[in-house]
Amino acid sequence: MEDTKHVMLVGEGARQFAVSQRFEETDLLTDESRKAWKKWKKEQNEMTPHDTHDTISVLAQDSNGNLAGACTTSGWAYKMHGRVGDSPIIGAGLYVDNEIGCAAATGLGEEVIKTTGSFLVVELMRQGYDPTAACEKALNRVIKRHNGNPDFQIAYIAIRKDGKIGSACIKWSFEYALARDGVNKLHKIKGIV
Ligand code: GLY
Repeated sequence: MEDTKHVMLVGEGARQFAVSQRFEETDLLTDESRKAWKKWKKEQNEMTPHDTHDTISVLAQDSNGNLAGACTTSGWAYKMHGRVGDSPIIGAGLYVDNEIGCAAATGLGEEVIKTTGSFLVVELMRQGYDPTAACEKALNRVIKRHNGNPDFQIAYIAIRKDGKIGSACIKWSFEYALARDGVNKLHKIKGIV
C-alpha cells in the first residue's frame, strides 16, 4: 500500500511485484510436508483449519495508544487450489481502526469472511460493546448460522482504544499470549458453546 496505489495484489502479479521489491524466491515445501501430502493423497481424509491450524494474528498498541495488527496463515491443509482464506482479507481476518480498536481472527476462514468478522468486532466496540462481548456477539452470528452448534472453531482477539483487551472462541478452548508492562502471559479461554 506504500509502494503502489493498490490495496491488494494476488497471484502472478503479486509474485512479480515481490520480485521487483527484491524478495527472494524460494520453495518452502519441505521433505516432511511433501511426505505428509503424499500420505494424505492416499487417505484423502477431510481436514479443517482446526486440524492443521497455524494462523497467527497479532494486535499491538504502542505507548501513544496507536493500534496495529498483522495476520498470517498457511490456511487449510490440502485446500482447493486458489482458495483464499480470511487472513488476507481486510475486515475478515483482521481490522484496525485507530479511533476505536482492532480485532483479528483465527479458525475457519470461510465463516469469518461470511460475517466480515474482525470488522464486525470493531463495529460492535464502536457501538459500546466491551471487547470480549463484541467478540462473543460476532461469534454468535456464526453460531446462529450453524443452528447453535458449529463443528468448527473460530476465535477472535480484540483491543479497544483505551487498552482494554478481549477474546472469545466458539468451542473447545483457545489460548492467546498477552505481553504488557514487561510481563508475558498465556491466557486460556473456554468456548461459548
Ligand atoms: N483463518 C485462516 C484461514 O482460514 O485461512
